[in-house]
Amino acid sequence: MDLGIKGETALVVGASEGIGYESAKALAEEGAEVLICSRNPEKLKQAAERLEQAGGCKVRSFAADVTRAEDIEQLMRWLENEAPQLDVLVSAVGGSRRAAFEELDDAAWLANYEFNLLGTVRVVRAALELLKHSRAGGRIVILGAAGARMPYENQVVSNVHKAGLIALVKTLGAEFQKYNIRVNSVSPGRTLTSLWTTRAARLAEERGVGAEDIIKEFSHEIPMKRFGRPEEIAAMVVFLASHKASYVTCQSILVDGGIARGLI
Ligand SMILES: NC(=O)c1ccc[n+]([C@@H]2O[C@H](COP(=O)([O-])OP(=O)(O)OC[C@H]3O[C@@H](n4cnc5c(N)ncnc54)[C@H](OP(=O)(O)O)[C@@H]3O)[C@@H](O)[C@H]2O)c1
Repeated sequence: MDLGIKGETALVVGASEGIGYESAKALAEEGAEVLICSRNPEKLKQAAERLEQAGGCKVRSFAADVTRAEDIEQLMRWLENEAPQLDVLVSAVGGSRRAAFEELDDAAWLANYEFNLLGTVRVVRAALELLKHSRAGGRIVILGAAGARMPYENQVVSNVHKAGLIALVKTLGAEFQKYNIRVNSVSPGRTLTSLWTTRAARLAEERGVGAEDIIKEFSHEIPMKRFGRPEEIAAMVVFLASHKASYVTCQSILVDGGIARGLI
């Protein structure tokens, strides 16, 4: 299937590994020109090299931390030089902290708010003017989480902030129609990236079991009985970023092996 994005320009933030990396790879394989951003310059450089091999084209990168407003200002200036017209923005930064409500103080709430929500807002703001210049109409895809649709135990901060992202997507999708920009979100379930391998290793150490036992335990309540692969989430990201999704906006699409089973 030709997704119609060959020759278009896409920025993926949070792209040196995990779902963001796989999204950048899938976009490059579809022939898009990819720009990538995340914090660690060395990881970013290696990711760009791997993406160049996968897509057969030059991949430009910029190191920035979405929790630092000054970094995003610099990203905006860099983008203005590198991509006078941007067609696709993928925001793949975020995450959860496993903690009960009583363990969280204001600083923990604010840190997670900045990481999951304000960071995304800043990235959208940085890319908006350039997305308005997209000839075919800009597209924004934001990584949410299934936990926003079926709140997980011990993940109250990200449950709340990822739910906020759904509200952001539905608001911006309507607000940006005047610029011909579509805005959607992909809500992954448990996906095997470093986010989970690190968490499983920590829980395994605490409980004196193997990391694979932890993954097995957390797979149990997923109807498909396994974690997702980052490329399975990326496939939806790229579909929403493509012209095949031309009538889809303001949506939050679950790719979660069936874990979030709410009727609404
Ligand atoms: N994996 C899951 O089970 C799961 C489930 C639900 C939702 N999600 C969502 O899916 C998205 C991607 O998750 P993932 O599992 O792919 O994450 P990941 O494997 O931890 O990768 C995160 C990427 O973002 C970059 N990054 C982290 N903090 C950043 C910051 N402050 N500023 C800029 N870049 C930053 C990282 O590189 P650097 O460290 O070099 O910056 C890396 O490239 C997130 O929004 C997450 O909440 C994931």
